[in-house]
Amino acid sequence: SFTPRVFSGIKPSGGLTLGNYLGAIKRFVGMQGGEFETVYCVVDMHAITVWQDPTELATATREVAAGYMAAGLDPTKSILFNQSQVSAHAELGWIFNCVARVGWMNRMTQFKDKAGSNAEKVSLGLYAYPSLMAADILLYHATHVPVGEDQKQHVELTRDIAAKFNHDFKVDFFPETEPVIEGPATRVMNLRDGTKKMSKSGESDMERINMLDDADKIAKKFKKAKTDPESLPETLDGLKDRPEARNLVDIYSALNDSTPEAVIAEYAGAGWGQFKPTLADLAVAKLAPISEEMQRLMNDPTEIDRILANGAEKARGIANPILKDTYDIVGF
Ligand code: ADP
Ligand code: NA
Repeated sequence: SFTPRVFSGIKPSGGLTLGNYLGAIKRFVGMQGGEFETVYCVVDMHAITVWQDPTELATATREVAAGYMAAGLDPTKSILFNQSQVSAHAELGWIFNCVARVGWMNRMTQFKDKAGSNAEKVSLGLYAYPSLMAADILLYHATHVPVGEDQKQHVELTRDIAAKFNHDFKVDFFPETEPVIEGPATRVMNLRDGTKKMSKSGESDMERINMLDDADKIAKKFKKAKTDPESLPETLDGLKDRPEARNLVDIYSALNDSTPEAVIAEYAGAGWGQFKPTLADLAVAKLAPISEEMQRLMNDPTEIDRILANGAEKARGIANPILKDTYDIVGF
């Protein structure tokens, strides 16, 4: 049986959003210090599957690390590092490229969304991304992976790769990793279109709340958020075909460690003119201390780099023996 171990990561491909905070970082913090060993990565090798300016990549890497720590991840309790510093990720990624099937990759909906009608022009790395993600997870024999809903299919693929590897080589070496997708904020939506996920790399800054946005920006963005003209309903059922309204209620409940039901119970009948400013105040109250701490940490990039280097050393301590065993199994 496998050590209970959590692995997850975030791409340094732009500024962190409220979706990353509620759907990932806050939940990473929740799993720290309990029954699991926790390993959290800044997945810079995933970021370069689309073009990244080198200077901005370095800054974004430090921003994700700062976001982790400011939100409560503690480098003495969790392993915090960036992917490119542990070469075993790339090495196991190659082996998994030879285990995964092209047909499996062709079914990945995120690739189809990102490539769109441009599939001939995107990088080969973007296509192989889920195979590298499987390597990230399985290199630590991670048993649990907290992610947002958009990553569910990739964790399922990770399980398929582990199962095929175990089957082909007649071993019981890689675990069947469980995705952990829980709580009201596993899919925070964009503020202008309630059917699209809030994302770092969305079209317009008004669509998303950034973790580093100041109070005025947060208030302005929620004020302009798309909603329908109806007020908040008496029960959660009343939000069924109202994705924009449901999104704001979900965000409120996730920020407040509450449930959508409780939010509806409190605000039934309220109009948006009342609810939106209350939501903005709550978001500012929760995010301001984190963004202040992020800014403070980012003023000392050398210290962030030192912490990440330290984390990489610890990560290698787990990853290298697992890679070595994998090489033995493969016949290298
Ligand atoms: P992005 O899509 O913003 O570039 P990443 O691909 O780096 O984010 O994802 C990092 C983590 O944040 C993943 O676990 C992902 O599921 C989660 N995540 C990203 N966006 C959201 C969102 N809008 N709601 C909930 N979780 C999200
Ligand atoms: Na994503």
